[in-house]
Formats: sequence, C-alpha cells, structure tokens
Amino acid sequence: MELKQQAVEVLRGNDCGGYTVPTATGLYPAQWNWDSCLVALGLAQFDEPRAVAEIETLFGGQWPDGMVPHILFHGDDSTYFPNAAVWQAGPTGRSSGITQPLVAATVVRHLFERTSDPVIRVRLAALVPKLLAWHRWCYAARDPYGTGLVSIIHPWESGMDNSPLWDSALDAVAPGPPVRHLRKDTGFAAADHRPTGSEYDRYINLVLEYRDNGYRTDRLYDVAPFRVADIGFSAILQRANQDLRSLLTAAGDIAAAAEVAAMEQRTGAAIVQCWHEEDGFFYGLDTRTGSLIRKPGIAGLLPLFADPGEAERHPRLVERLESWLTQVAYGVPSFEPGRPEFEPRRYWRGPVWLIVNWMLIDGLRRNGRPELAERIRRDSLALVERAGFAEYFNPLTGDPLGGSRFSWTAAMYLHLAAGSE
Ligand code: DGY
Repeated sequence: MELKQQAVEVLRGNDCGGYTVPTATGLYPAQWNWDSCLVALGLAQFDEPRAVAEIETLFGGQWPDGMVPHILFHGDDSTYFPNAAVWQAGPTGRSSGITQPLVAATVVRHLFERTSDPVIRVRLAALVPKLLAWHRWCYAARDPYGTGLVSIIHPWESGMDNSPLWDSALDAVAPGPPVRHLRKDTGFAAADHRPTGSEYDRYINLVLEYRDNGYRTDRLYDVAPFRVADIGFSAILQRANQDLRSLLTAAGDIAAAAEVAAMEQRTGAAIVQCWHEEDGFFYGLDTRTGSLIRKPGIAGLLPLFADPGEAERHPRLVERLESWLTQVAYGVPSFEPGRPEFEPRRYWRGPVWLIVNWMLIDGLRRNGRPELAERIRRDSLALVERAGFAEYFNPLTGDPLGGSRFSWTAAMYLHLAAGSE
C-alpha cells in the first residue's frame, strides 16, 4: 500500500470519534493539545470536516478562564500516568491543569484559507473568539508583568518535555517523594527513548504543587518552582498572534485585531532581545533566577517560524541550522549535535520530530530560503519511507523511536507530501 494511504489508515485507526489519540498503543490514551492541532493539518488532506472537528473537540475542553489544557481525558485513561484522577483539574475533572504551545490559530488560519466550503468557514470562524480567549489567558497568566515573553511553568508546557534547556531549572525543583515507579510510559516505549526517573519525580511533584494551588491562574506564576521563558513557546505564540490577527481581520473584528497586534508588538520586541550576539543564537531565560539558558536547542531556531524577516536580520541563525544538518544523516535534530547533552535516541535531547520540521520548513519558505526548506522536507519524507510513522527518529541513523503508528507523524507526512505551505 502506498505511504499516503498508510498515513490515512494510521489517522483513521487512531480516531476515537471527534478526537485522535497520538497513538493507539496505550502510551497516550487521551487528546493532546498540540498533537490535535497538528493532526488537523493532515486530516484536512482527506477530510476537512473531520479536521475541524478535531479542533472543535479540543476547544470543547477550554476552561472558563480561557486556558486550553494540554490533555483532555475523554475515555479510559488507566494506561497513563498521571491520568485525570491524579490531575484533579478543571471544571469537569477530565483534563490536565497546564497548557501547551499555542499552535491552534496557525492551524485554523491554514484550514480557513485552504477551504472552499462555506460551512467549514463558518465552523472555523466560530473558533476565533475561543482562540482569542486563549491568547488573552496566556498573556494574563504567564506574563503578568507585561514583559512580552510568556513563561511556561512545567516542561510539559513546552511540548519538548526533556529538552536539555530545562535541565538546570528542573534540577532546582525539589524532587518530592519518588513516584517514578508509578510511570506507565516505559511499558510502551523503550526507557532510553524516554525522560529519566529523576525528571519524572520532578514532573509529578510540579503537578501536585499546582494541584495544591487549585491551578489558579492568579497564583501559579508567582509560586511556580519551575518558570522559564522558552524561546520556542514564545516564537510559536508570536506566529499564532499573526495568524489570529489575520482571522480577526477577516471576521471584521477590528478592535480585537488591534488588541492582538499589540500582543504581537510586545512579543516581537521581546524575542529580538533574546538574540545572543556572541553565540549567534536565540536563548530563553529562567524567569525565577533571571539567568539565560545558554544552550542550543531547536527552540532557538523557531524565531524563523515567527518572523519572515529573521533570516535577513540574523543570517548566522540559518548558518547554524545548516551546520547542524552537516552533522546528521537526517535533519533536524532537536538539540545541537556534538554537545555533551546531545542524545540521538532520547526524546527531545536529539531526535528528529516531524512537527518541528514542518515549522522550520514553513518558516524558511517565508524567510526566502526555499532550498533549505526543501532539504528538510525531503529528509522528513525519507524518514517515514525508511522507518514508518514513528513518534520521532534518530538523526544519525534514521531509526524509529518512541511510539509507533503515530498520528502527528502520519499527519505531517500527508501535509508535507502534498507540498503544502
Ligand atoms: C508525556 O506523558 O510524555 C507527555 O509528553 C506529557 O505531555
């Protein structure tokens, strides 16, 4: 069977009716926020109404304060830890209590512009006020002092859970009582592809701390034992701000478009400040200690996704990406190869993730670097041709890693094979 058809079958097989699990193996038995948004890009290739439903279901779990949780538990979650019973979060008790990168507005705009179906457009337009509420929440909750850079309060919020970027901030978090024996993920994926036990103790301790604080938006920023202004999270938000502004403008909501333009201005100015001239790279910072996170992770390349003028402003950033590509068989590694922290098999410490490849492809095209975008697109397709729809891939060998028959990898394959912007 040809690969596109296989990708469709992966997505149909992981479809739980209105939402898609990341993989049906039991590793992730729920709806993940940025997974769902990115899966919608693939679903749109063969079923636009289903793509919209994916996002509608996600926003069905939006909290009254505007937050869209990083996990919605719709069904049996007994194979996952921490499940809904551990989180005890939100109005229904069926979600996590933290968020994930705000990629939804970018996806909704993409779906809006590609469709010729007026009914789909109406459904997408109905999501726009919800997107706006989420962006407003993000600034109020995670940048309460108006710096323009939003902070994450848990490594899971970055989506790049065990990136070396969080090592020192996470080390400073008390591990709490050991809970690593309660983990279930390593029953489904090899332990050396996953975060470590000591990271897990801290991940769960943070959850319990926020649970004790009732997940209160007005408190968590100040009490958070882990608080980091991630350059990747802010870059994705900044891109989503532009896309949300465009959707609001199309809807004729000029006042809200101006409000988002102001967010965009603040965050754009703050991202520029994250450029490190000596190193020629973008870094985030630990907002508890004020210290710079001087490590070259893939998050530092994402300003290319946020700003079409980035390659011209900082040509060294693109050169750095090119130098990473000379050190691997398949791009783009999630951390700079050759560094002591680089681990080609372990989750976000080196492996290639197709969803980030898509962000870089899109960003490089907008930055006038289509040939480099094409190189990354070809690598992405080649990985799937070689190793199937794995969760992530070894950049040195192309071997499959993590979960299998993975939704967002299938979705990215369909999206990138179609050559879509
Ligand atoms: C996990 O459980 O590994 C997820 O990435 C958390 O969101």
